[in-house]
Amino acid sequence: MNRNFASDNTAGAAPEILEAVAAAARGRAMPYGNDDWTRRASQRISEIFERDCAVFPVATGTAANTLGLSLLTPPWGSVYCHQHAHIILDESSAPELFTGGARLIGLAGEAGKVSATALEAALAGSGKGDVHHVQPAALSLTQLTEWGSAYSLEELGALTEVARRHGLKVHMDGARFANALVGLNCSPAEMTWKAGVDVLSFGATKNGCLAAEAVVVFDPALAESLPFRRKRAAQLFSKMRIVSAQLEAYLQDGLWLRLARRANDMAGLLAEGLESLAGVELVAPVHGNELFVRLPAKMAGGLKAAGFLFYPWTFGGEGVYRLVTAFDSEREEVEAFIACARGFEE
Ligand SMILES: Cc1ncc(COP(=O)(O)O)c(C=O)c1O
Repeated sequence: MNRNFASDNTAGAAPEILEAVAAAARGRAMPYGNDDWTRRASQRISEIFERDCAVFPVATGTAANTLGLSLLTPPWGSVYCHQHAHIILDESSAPELFTGGARLIGLAGEAGKVSATALEAALAGSGKGDVHHVQPAALSLTQLTEWGSAYSLEELGALTEVARRHGLKVHMDGARFANALVGLNCSPAEMTWKAGVDVLSFGATKNGCLAAEAVVVFDPALAESLPFRRKRAAQLFSKMRIVSAQLEAYLQDGLWLRLARRANDMAGLLAEGLESLAGVELVAPVHGNELFVRLPAKMAGGLKAAGFLFYPWTFGGEGVYRLVTAFDSEREEVEAFIACARGFEE
């Protein structure tokens, strides 16, 4: 039985994805994205988002984020994000490399969310027009956030309104896009371009693919330089069909939503069980497949001794841990975690 709640990255891949890769690996196809899988995956993404999108498959979330950001800021620009955003904490200096040196500016905010008020205040003191300062260029929002919460459509709208008013473009880090979408129960269009998002990092790896993400640009004119940027970033794969076949299968017959629903349901079950235990506190709302919980020291120690794996979440303070479920999480393993925790109730 799986006892690993450290990350959705610890899960493998969904059988449907593996079958699609095996099928795509047979026979001949033109390289570098000039293949039917890439055409169909791009077409499918445009259908799902209800408009013509420019779609660029890549293999890591860092590549999707940094290439996406490179379209939105000049080297002398700044990108506003949450202070715990993946782009600012977990992507080394790749954002700086691919944007040619733009600066990331981290803003504080509850539950991993940038607030419209904080953004407005930061922009008021940004030094726009002053040659001595970096120039505000973009806002990057993570959906699901790094704290497992989802921005509501109203929150997204309020943030992108501030961004627009100050001339900023908007990027969304959707490494857990499907989890947020299922959590909010809205359409992909509503959660992105209809809410003012210009470029999306469409994540699929965490939710059942082997290694497949896509930069989705809602205004294709904005994407003119992206073919060249992607090649320069070493993300133009000769056998692109292997990446695109994953995306195609992922989006076929709602597989991506079923996988995300499973992960979210298991996170909900885990949250419900843990919340009922004395001494346990959820420190952020659970809108997707991640939980942030304060556990009594004995309970955390007991769970670890029983072989459960999970990371401390130091931003949450003493005794706070991150628990992540995935597309293949089983009820049995969630119940085992809760039962073990119950044995150490205060
Ligand atoms: C919020 C977020 N964005 C992006 C990524 C993608 O990172 P990677 O480059 O490891 O695929 C991750 C992975 O942990 C993530 O959690």
